[in-house]
Amino acid sequence: METQQQLDDFQARIDAGEKIEPKDWMPERYRQQLTRMGSQHAHSEIVGMLPEGNWIGRAPSLKRKLVLLAKVQDEAGHGLYLYSAIETLGESRANMIDQYLYGSAKYSSIFNYPTLSYADVCVIGWLVDGAAIVNQTKLAHCSYGPYARANLRICKEESFHKKQGYEMVAKMAEGIPAQRKMVQDAVNRFWWPTLMMFGPHDSDSPNSEELIKWQIKLNTNDELRQHFVDRVVMEAGAIGLTLPDHDLKFNEETGHWEMGEMPWDEFWNVVKGNGVMNRERMKARRNAHENGAWVREAAQAYARKKKLSREKAS
Ligand code: 3HC
Repeated sequence: METQQQLDDFQARIDAGEKIEPKDWMPERYRQQLTRMGSQHAHSEIVGMLPEGNWIGRAPSLKRKLVLLAKVQDEAGHGLYLYSAIETLGESRANMIDQYLYGSAKYSSIFNYPTLSYADVCVIGWLVDGAAIVNQTKLAHCSYGPYARANLRICKEESFHKKQGYEMVAKMAEGIPAQRKMVQDAVNRFWWPTLMMFGPHDSDSPNSEELIKWQIKLNTNDELRQHFVDRVVMEAGAIGLTLPDHDLKFNEETGHWEMGEMPWDEFWNVVKGNGVMNRERMKARRNAHENGAWVREAAQAYARKKKLSREKAS
């Protein structure tokens, strides 16, 4: 049973800005929240490889193919950093993976949208990685040491992805009319799903209050979404692209861009597993997991054999 004194001492550490490390005492709920949020973050990175991976074989040039290959590889690495960070809380990687492949654990809704043209790959780099970097630069300062350090490492690559994506979008926006049309269509399809990445409105966010109290989240969903929109409206304008929100308007008083109403029915529908690509993404990930079982078994057998021969030698 956790005593009030333990809880108060823990909160005092959080309020003093101290990092909590794996061997430190922590409330069970803190552990659970981090395991939930961090494992779902990791799942998102792994599933996030699929939409862009769809265009590796069809990139318009060898250079663009190499760029895309490297980016998709980076996302795999982000997933592994995050699984490693969350394993320090006691949850096994196998369990975490089972929970999203065969259980009810979530991954980011954004990856349940199809990539219909190569311009989608460019827009994902600019908007999706751009949204992820807004979120992850905050997580890099969260109270749990291993998760903060994993995000710090991810941010270095993510900000490169975002800049690279924006450069690719700008090139298409300055291209021939067919390229301009293609990239504007991609922005129109990805704008609202990107804003959904920041989660529901604060009033509909059951986890935020606890996460903010424990400085796992440093800002609310709406604050981060607003920060993202304020930046992207300028970036879109700079390259002559429009955003599909007719209610978007600048508020001189607050200095922020006010958005139209989000399509929340669509958001919850996708979160509940009814998005256009949910089934396809899960089928692809389950196939990869099941077809790769022999590799995991061989690696584990090899590790056991090495351990046995070390024990015999000692
Ligand atoms: N997609 C799927 N589920 C979502 C969601 C989304 N966009 N937004 C919220 N949800 C779920 C939450 O997981 C929660 O369900 P749960 O309790 O069963 O887990 C429920 O909706 C209520 O939402 P809350 O706001 O209460 O949940 P959180 O406080 O956890 O906030 C979050 C949601 C902002 C996504 C937060 O979990 C977070 O910051 N997570 C870490 C970052 C992350 O996961 N990013 C995902 C993208 S990774 C990425 O983009 C990779 C890049 O390389 C492209």
